Amino acid sequence: MKHVELGTTRIQTSCLGLGTVELGLPYGLSKEPPPADNVCIELLHQAVAGGISYIDTAAAYGRSEELVGRAFGSRADRPTIATKVALRDEQGRPLAAADQRQHIEASVQRSLRLLQTERLDILKIHSAADAFLHDELVGAMQDMVDRGMVGAWGASTYGMAAPADALAEAKVRVLQIAYSILDRRLSAQILPRARNNGVGIVLRSVFLQGVLSDRRRDLPDSMAALARAAESAAQLAAESDLSLSDMALRFALYGGAGDVTIVGTAHEEELRQNLVACEAGPLPPDLVAALETIDIDDPELLNPSAWPDQPVQAK
Ligand SMILES: NC(=O)c1ccc[n+]([C@@H]2O[C@H](COP(=O)([O-])OP(=O)(O)OC[C@H]3O[C@@H](n4cnc5c(N)ncnc54)[C@H](OP(=O)(O)O)[C@@H]3O)[C@@H](O)[C@H]2O)c1
Repeated sequence: MKHVELGTTRIQTSCLGLGTVELGLPYGLSKEPPPADNVCIELLHQAVAGGISYIDTAAAYGRSEELVGRAFGSRADRPTIATKVALRDEQGRPLAAADQRQHIEASVQRSLRLLQTERLDILKIHSAADAFLHDELVGAMQDMVDRGMVGAWGASTYGMAAPADALAEAKVRVLQIAYSILDRRLSAQILPRARNNGVGIVLRSVFLQGVLSDRRRDLPDSMAALARAAESAAQLAAESDLSLSDMALRFALYGGAGDVTIVGTAHEEELRQNLVACEAGPLPPDLVAALETIDIDDPELLNPSAWPDQPVQAK
């Protein structure tokens, strides 16, 4: 497993991370419910045994934080754990700026308890869209660091405007973005700027929730353009004797776009495949060049929250 430093945070971690929304909520194209607790905890242990030392969770991921806390407690091999605070009330409505500080403090206290720790390694603002930062919010997040409750803070973003907004604030140290073979919109401007500013970059959605896997064959008609693009990628993968998901993961892991690439799964077999793909290293340069020809420029298609709510068959 290759190890990286997350920007200039001084956090050393594996280049492959594990996402855990699937352990806490029905998620993804299948909306499959999470497995039993013991299966989740075993999966987390296997991830760490396989060399993964970065776990992504969030206060909004159902029981994910609790399970991650139970899996690692104060174990010596406790990985770096990144969690998130959603700036929303219990009904999912955006919080007024004046209410955010108190909410962040309460969310951090709960995450500390569930994750069984005295300090959150990384805290991200969850699902930031458009321009989202303001002085009060920056002050509230930085206060968590200054009081020793958080190691580094940042944001997990959607679209183009939110990452640009995050990078305009020097106190933001970690940026999580969607990035994949089909979605390289942030490559030209945002990623070089993040790199120059020493911001740690975490890539997610490298499978576009499973579109870049065999599931491409089960997509509804309204997602036909995505299925076609995924099929073109799959053909290129097949010509190199690779599976589409292996190629999609190695594209993100070794393309130089990010420090850490997270992949979510609740399935032991998928975790194993992802570890094997990671060990295989960079893709051949001619394959990377061929993948440049495949692109989707419709932002709605690249945004899972805009997809139809029809689950494909669960595994
Ligand atoms: N705003 C945010 O902060 C945010 C948003 C979304 C996600 N996340 C985080 O990112 C993680 C990843 O979520 P994502 O939405 O970015 O999805 P993703 O990683 O692109 O895709 C995850 C899905 O791909 C499938 N998969 C995993 N390994 C596979 C393999 N080897 N072969 C085939 N399919 C495989 C699994 O679905 P099946 O098991 O159904 O096949 C899994 O649910 C989440 O766990 C979460 O921690 C954060």
